[in-house]
Amino acid sequence: MCGIVGYIGKKPAAPIILEGLSKLEYRGYDSAGMAVFDGEKIQIKKSVGRLKVLEELTHDGATMPGVIGIGHTRWATHGAPSDVNSHPHYNEKETIAVVHNGIIENYLPLKEKMISKGYKFTSDTDTEVLAHLIDYYYKGNPLEAITKVMHRVQGSYALGIMFAEHPDQIFAVRKDSPLIVGQNEDGCFIASDVPAILKYTRKVYFIQNQEVVRLRADHMHFYTVDEEEITKEPVNIEWDADAAEKGGYEHFMLKEMYEQPKTVTDTLMPRIKDGDIVIEELGMSDDEIKAIRKVHIVACGSAYHVGVTAKYVIEGIARIPVEVDVASEFRYRNPILEEGAMVIVISQSGETADTLAALRESQQLGYKVLGIVNVVGSSIAREADNVMYTWAGPEIAVATTKAYSAQLVAIYLLAMKFAKVKGTISDSDFTAMLKDLKRLPDQIEMLLSNKERIQRFANRYIGAKDVFFIGRGIDYAISMEGSLKLKEISYIHSEAYAAGELKHGTISLIEKDTLVAAVATQDNLFQKTLSNMVEVKARGAFVLAVTNAGNTDIEKAADYVIYIPRTNPYFANSLAIIPLQLFGYYVAVGKGCDVDKPRNLAKSVTVE
Ligand code: M6R
Repeated sequence: MCGIVGYIGKKPAAPIILEGLSKLEYRGYDSAGMAVFDGEKIQIKKSVGRLKVLEELTHDGATMPGVIGIGHTRWATHGAPSDVNSHPHYNEKETIAVVHNGIIENYLPLKEKMISKGYKFTSDTDTEVLAHLIDYYYKGNPLEAITKVMHRVQGSYALGIMFAEHPDQIFAVRKDSPLIVGQNEDGCFIASDVPAILKYTRKVYFIQNQEVVRLRADHMHFYTVDEEEITKEPVNIEWDADAAEKGGYEHFMLKEMYEQPKTVTDTLMPRIKDGDIVIEELGMSDDEIKAIRKVHIVACGSAYHVGVTAKYVIEGIARIPVEVDVASEFRYRNPILEEGAMVIVISQSGETADTLAALRESQQLGYKVLGIVNVVGSSIAREADNVMYTWAGPEIAVATTKAYSAQLVAIYLLAMKFAKVKGTISDSDFTAMLKDLKRLPDQIEMLLSNKERIQRFANRYIGAKDVFFIGRGIDYAISMEGSLKLKEISYIHSEAYAAGELKHGTISLIEKDTLVAAVATQDNLFQKTLSNMVEVKARGAFVLAVTNAGNTDIEKAADYVIYIPRTNPYFANSLAIIPLQLFGYYVAVGKGCDVDKPRNLAKSVTVE
């Protein structure tokens, strides 16, 4: 988490850094700070609170003159959000400034050692130890000091570093936290992510683990941790710069929900050719697909919910057993990957620390990993053996919507491909499913156009204390995501339950007017879920139902019904989730919550 930006060039650095940080606030937003070399010394301004506090403090950067600087927006790990814990951090002489994204795991022994050598610490952060360590090793050669520190510290870090004695250069360093650098005719840039510098350059260099970059106003040099110079090729970023702007929408989340028909189309259509599914990036021959004995899916949060859906879809269509794990559990449970196992990791950011660790764990066990990833060039995209991109473009709101929808259709494509190759689906069923797949974007569009009705309903639940989401099979997976969408942005406690499991304990929480959202899109389970709805209604619940058009029987058991268009049951998630996303969004808006930047969260979770 945390976002870092750096600039060295001909232009005033502070406004460029503030602008860049504003594009990275999704990574953390509990405090922000900047260091700028003013011609004599490194000046630091930092403050707890959103970036706008720093903007006010520095008069939009005007009070921090200088053409060299680094900045940071923070998601606190070590030390509460406070002025003193905000980055940048100095050494004692205030001649070295550091911004950091990641965690220094051995900071405590290092801190004790530095204290024993007479260093004084002013913050509770792990980062401050870096400033003092660099100072300790610095004997006039910044690169030497930085690489010595890299050999001493354990953990993850993307760093921006500047030295008052070398005001013609800044340094960027990376291990396990994302970092890019870029250049244009006015200077060179450091950033945690592409949107921060897209306005200035499309030519970026992805920094690999244990690499250091020395940036000057007009050129950059790349080094290994052993100070050997290396060469790198830039990558041209094709993204539309407007994609990372709100474009007239009140929130990024709303804009991104509205982009779902396009992201689903962009993920699906290039892989549907002449009535067949062609996934070149899969890197598997038909014989290799036929040899798959088991699929392991590993992910976190909403991407994990896609994995839960994938279990039903892949097992149902392709008849391959699927095991789904939360990445933070998978990595420490000594997983058994049997002969013929295939591992799939799913991640929007491609930087989620636990998912990345699960990928590495699987590779160490000798298995190839397919990454379903949104961010091009991210760590998971680089390290996975094969990458299937979800073409959702930059997703800024912390609550995922369009990337989730793109991940779902990537899974449908995979399941159908496997089924076709393994012969577990008839040609006519395959063709009918393809037809249904292609209709999804229009159907999503139609559901989005019905937003006012959901908004009116959501306004009634602004004061809710607890909301339960129930469903069976794929509807349970949909419930999990609906519940997460609501809770993460509205702060209303919410849980998802397999509908049949309620009566094993949780039903005791149902009382008069408790909202229960029941998802019932699977025809074979419809009557069963209906019974569970009747059970909660009998205990006073107010039942909101999401079901397929035509299932009017549900009105006997539900107080409010949202109908979704009919599609193949395996694809129902893509439609049923739309009203649930809108519901979560409008409840949060109604409560006055900061929808795009919910408290305590960050968009990419690069710490365990
Ligand atoms: O970038 P990733 O897809 O790996 O992120 C996984 C989760 O952190 C993410 O889905 C999270 O749960 C979102 N806040 C959900 O809206």
